[in-house]
Amino acid sequence: MLILNKTAGVFSKPSRRKTYEFLRSFTFHPGKLFLHKLVLGIETSCDDTAAAVVDETGNVLGEAIHSQTEVHLKTGGIVPPVAQQLHRENIQRIVQEALSASKVSPSELSAIATTVKPGLALSLGVGLSFSLQLVEQFKKPFIPIHHMEAHALTIRLLNKVQFPFLVLLISGGHCLLALVRGVSDFLLLGKSLDIAPGDMLDKVARRLSLIKHPECSTMSGGKAIEHLAKQGNKLHFDIKPPMQHAKNCDFSFSGLQHVVDRLITQKEKEEGIPKGQILSSAAHIAAAVQHTAACHIAKRTHRAILFCKQRQLLSQSNAVLVVSGGVASNLYIRKALEIVTNATQCTLLCPPPRLCTDNGIMIAWNGIERLRAGVGVLHNTEGIRYEPKCPLGVDITEEVGEAAIKVPQLKMEI
Ligand code: KG4
Ligand code: ZN
Repeated sequence: MLILNKTAGVFSKPSRRKTYEFLRSFTFHPGKLFLHKLVLGIETSCDDTAAAVVDETGNVLGEAIHSQTEVHLKTGGIVPPVAQQLHRENIQRIVQEALSASKVSPSELSAIATTVKPGLALSLGVGLSFSLQLVEQFKKPFIPIHHMEAHALTIRLLNKVQFPFLVLLISGGHCLLALVRGVSDFLLLGKSLDIAPGDMLDKVARRLSLIKHPECSTMSGGKAIEHLAKQGNKLHFDIKPPMQHAKNCDFSFSGLQHVVDRLITQKEKEEGIPKGQILSSAAHIAAAVQHTAACHIAKRTHRAILFCKQRQLLSQSNAVLVVSGGVASNLYIRKALEIVTNATQCTLLCPPPRLCTDNGIMIAWNGIERLRAGVGVLHNTEGIRYEPKCPLGVDITEEVGEAAIKVPQLKMEI
């Protein structure tokens, strides 16, 4: 656990005055009455500075986001001090925009909810410092948020999904399968043993130099792979899915990344193309890597569903699988998961793409969920820390592995 480094916060000397002016710029509107609880959510755990105001019924009153994707695409990945600086430059504006759009002044808020774990230390620090200043100024309760819990609960803002349900979270920094039994009651069934699928797709996209591809230059790596894959043949290259003999629900993507890396080097030699230029077979490679990743994710998820049903942790006839995180916006992967849920009589639910990637709404909504359940609402923020690493829920991955559930082969015709 890291202690919050106060000097790493947003408020270095020159910006303190600006912050004060910003806080003073809000006026209370007499006569305006909000019947519902209102939460301001703030997200800075990775490379998006985001904020939103959400009410108890799930109405999004205002939101704003600043994405750093373009900058990080140019540097070939996230450089933490750069991300920190960009959060510092944007957080005040983003929070102000979300509040202004919502027409809610800070004094009308029921609480402020902020991502404090897990994530990049330097990025988390910016959001936490800023939030604590707001909390202190307006004497509001503070709700520290676990980023993955927020991804998992987002679906309940849109659908009346009851607990328990199964969740698959797949993004650039995370990959896990968990049973959600309550607002802060999770059983961890499986996780990636190395990198997350989004990270793997980002690395493959970089290795393929897709930033130079006219159709993909502004897309995240995962989105670029999905786009290009549509023009390729997934069977052109035969890439085996990882961990075929491990009968658990864990994932692995770094082996796949290295296999693809070697394949690209081999193709560069064959095509006589120097590293950094786009291969003629780039679309086939994108299609093959997306297909292999989709089959791997589908198989582990299939096993998790069977495990939960076998242990009666999920309803036999009315089980729900929720898929979220940036990679969940990939329609090919969603279709692979649909094949699994159809075969197991489950309902597959995915938030819309803009709620799958990082956003302020999910943090505000997690705040509402915690406020309603009365869990983790702090009236004293003394000693509050951010935690770059923090597992989600109770880890039962070993028990899942010991069950060694055999998964029937499904035809992945996507
Ligand atoms: O959830 P997110 O916004 O941030 C975290 O990592 O927490 O996810 C970003 C990741 C990136 O790795 C990006 O390449 C991937 O999600 N991604 C996609 C797609 N859109 C974004 N991966 C596959 N297909 C997509 N359409
Ligand atoms: Zn995320």
